Amino acid sequence: MSQQYTSSYWQERKEDVAWLDEQSLNAAYNAVDKHLETGNGNKTALIYEAEDGTVKRFSFLALSQQSNKFANYLLSKGVKKGDRVFLFLPRIPELFIGFLGILKTGAIAGTMFSAFQKDALRDRLENSGATVVITAKELVDRIEQIKSELPELKHVLIVDDETFQADLELHPDNFSVCKTSPEDFAFMLYTSGTTGKPKGIVHAHYGCLQQHESAKLALDLKPNDIYWCTADPGWVTGIVYSILSNWSLGITTVVYGGRFDAEKWYEILEKHKVTVWYSAPTAIRMLMAKGTPLVKKYNLSSLRYLASVGEPLNPEAVIWGKEAFGKYFHDTWWQTETGSIMITNTPNLEVKPGSMGKPFPWVEAAILDDDGIPVPDEEEGNLCLKPFWPSLMRTVWQNKEKYESYFKNGWYFSGDRAKKDKDGYFWFVGRADDVIKTSGERVGPFEVESALVEHPSVVEAGVIGKPDEIRGEIIKAFVVLKPGVEGTEALKTELAEHVKKHLAGHAYPREVEFIDKLPKTRSGKIMRRILKAKELGQPIGDTSTLEEY
Ligand code: PRX
Repeated sequence: MSQQYTSSYWQERKEDVAWLDEQSLNAAYNAVDKHLETGNGNKTALIYEAEDGTVKRFSFLALSQQSNKFANYLLSKGVKKGDRVFLFLPRIPELFIGFLGILKTGAIAGTMFSAFQKDALRDRLENSGATVVITAKELVDRIEQIKSELPELKHVLIVDDETFQADLELHPDNFSVCKTSPEDFAFMLYTSGTTGKPKGIVHAHYGCLQQHESAKLALDLKPNDIYWCTADPGWVTGIVYSILSNWSLGITTVVYGGRFDAEKWYEILEKHKVTVWYSAPTAIRMLMAKGTPLVKKYNLSSLRYLASVGEPLNPEAVIWGKEAFGKYFHDTWWQTETGSIMITNTPNLEVKPGSMGKPFPWVEAAILDDDGIPVPDEEEGNLCLKPFWPSLMRTVWQNKEKYESYFKNGWYFSGDRAKKDKDGYFWFVGRADDVIKTSGERVGPFEVESALVEHPSVVEAGVIGKPDEIRGEIIKAFVVLKPGVEGTEALKTELAEHVKKHLAGHAYPREVEFIDKLPKTRSGKIMRRILKAKELGQPIGDTSTLEEY
């Protein structure tokens, strides 16, 4: 194993996860199969509730056997260690089982959020060279539309198709799990930056050790907990804290397959007697908007610990949580790239509403200037972490240059701006780049701009995140139209629909403004910073590199 990830700290805790042998660690075996060997096979691993209220329960034994069938099926289709196998599924049990099955074969699992449309799917499948996509009847059309452009894609499996199901049933429910090394790749997730298409962030099996420890401490998980993480496995939180770490700890986990709905969410908490709840600021603010009296209609006395991730958790939401549930939401900070929670409010840390908390004992975090020099306490700078750690991304798929760009002067630069106070608490300030966080989801402006310019009426577009009380940010597009095209309200709606249809249901501009010309640098780069400053009525700042505007 690469020495750089194995500090003595992690060496000493190595046995907290289950190794296949001295050298082999497989994150799926560790999450599920190991419980069969300790007599916990019959414990409920997954309580799944569909949008229509149907509930299914899966023991660790059932998850193990069903993911074994999946793994056998994949091998029969020629899947080999290191192949990329992607899941494009709604939140149904097969998403969780399929993910585990892929890891068991030694292939690399990729997930794609079910709101993705063909442009977003094509970017991911093309770049990763995925050979198999696992999907469902309701989504398969979107894959069929782009299949001819993906020469490496050999199989499209439809989990609710009768032939597939009959085939799957023929495969045995025992499987010899691939003896992956801790450094072998386990899963990859495409995530957005300022420039270019989304990048494939790749994680290794060894990450499960740190994911296990972080869930235990940051989410305060105990053996008898009923835990609900509301995130979709299309995003990193859903993979790490709804599959790999929670099950590594042997925790009964709730998954709700439906959309956000305040009443429904409270019903889930009440009905399944959830004790630990991990959610996101936009959802908390949406619940807050529905008011405290609604919360009081439900018996939520089982709730013991609340946590949040993904975007800034404003102090009002933390304080409301205390009023409504009698508990604070504990903010946690991390990124797709870090692979596990890095900064957090652990249970015994006094909550300062609005702060992300403090780094874990195994994390060295600092606020540095652009040259990597520490800035004084209370001053804003770059939020940086000292590499390396087990759950850190191992590479950016086929983009070494991008991977290397995260590291400078011996530090990992997160791309976030933050402050540290005199007590050592970290406070989020904003992004150092143009990345947008809308409803907790990370969206690159370039992807939205590219989708907009595909529309026949558009010459070019500049996209920014505009602050929004509920969603954190909304996507706003400034659009230059072709000569003679009239900028009507109907066209604004049409452009938003166009992005929804081509890119993703969640990544469309909620606001569109037509302008004559975009601010650009002399080399032709769109200056989104200027669009944003103008939108917010702020000073435009240094315009020395700006083309005449
Ligand atoms: O800007 C930070 C924000 O989300 C980014 C990472 O997004 P993603 O890779 O999608 O992962 C999200 C879930 C792990 C960060 O660079 N972010 C995440 N957590 C917080 C946050 N911003 C403020 N406060 C947080 N607690």
